[in-house]
Amino acid sequence: MTTPQSRRYLMCRPDFFTVSYEINPWMNKHLPVDTALAVKQWERLRDTYLDLGATVEYIDPVEGLPDMVYSANGATVVDGVVYGARFTHPERQPEGPAFLRWFADHGFTVHDARERNEGEGDILTVGPRILAGTGFRTDVAAHAEAAELWGRELVTLELVDPRFYHLDTALIVLEGTEGGTGLEGTEGGARAGQVAYYPAAFSPSSREVLEGLYPDAVIADESDAVVLGLNGVSDGHHVVLNPLATKLVGQLAERGYEPVGVDTSELVLGGGGAKCCTLEIRPARGPDGLAGA
Ligand code: ARG
Repeated sequence: MTTPQSRRYLMCRPDFFTVSYEINPWMNKHLPVDTALAVKQWERLRDTYLDLGATVEYIDPVEGLPDMVYSANGATVVDGVVYGARFTHPERQPEGPAFLRWFADHGFTVHDARERNEGEGDILTVGPRILAGTGFRTDVAAHAEAAELWGRELVTLELVDPRFYHLDTALIVLEGTEGGTGLEGTEGGARAGQVAYYPAAFSPSSREVLEGLYPDAVIADESDAVVLGLNGVSDGHHVVLNPLATKLVGQLAERGYEPVGVDTSELVLGGGGAKCCTLEIRPARGPDGLAGA
């Protein structure tokens, strides 16, 4: 069963987007970047979310922080509680406080991170569970810090291929935010969530963990992974992703999801796709344990 659920996203318009430094294998500062085209593609992505019924919030872009468009890295919000980012590379470090300030100004309880982590790039919510990547940008100490903050089960996954340096480049959450207490259905029901992933991006032991948790996961191949096809956003039914990930698009449709292709080719020059540009704001739980308004 694939049912859409309304979502709330935080996005940052790429007015100052460019590739002026190289911190992942996708970036080449000698290639020209068309900022106006990046803005057009980003607007198309934003309009797609609005058409799908999502609420979109905006953080002002800052000149000199070209990667700020990848808002998913700016923080992680679970149950309305914000866990700040602490970036690896000095070029992106000022983004952490900028995002925390946005959340504080908008009435959220914010927690500055002690440990190194890059927000939803590596910390993904799948049903009641958190999946957290390590190996490149986020330390396992941050996994522990986040798990304690939210009081949620967290599973660590080790990334081994530098092209897939964030968990959200190797794994897409298909059914994420559930309305339940988070305690039921952990053995494979819809409540436990569903994912698609590229196995070779993970260490052998993490691959085994994923096989155990999601025996029916959609398995993507390298050709779809290298166009960042797994860097997509799902509301539980629609899956917004790179249309060049043609096999994955077909696999998702076969499972009853509705793939929605959005071209983000200019933003891929910085090493990010749709998901990187989309920070999900997950609501606080009500007193009944259900997700609040
Ligand atoms: N240039 C950015 C970096 O390397 C891209 C971030 C992509 N974001 C993501 N959620 N994977 O940090």
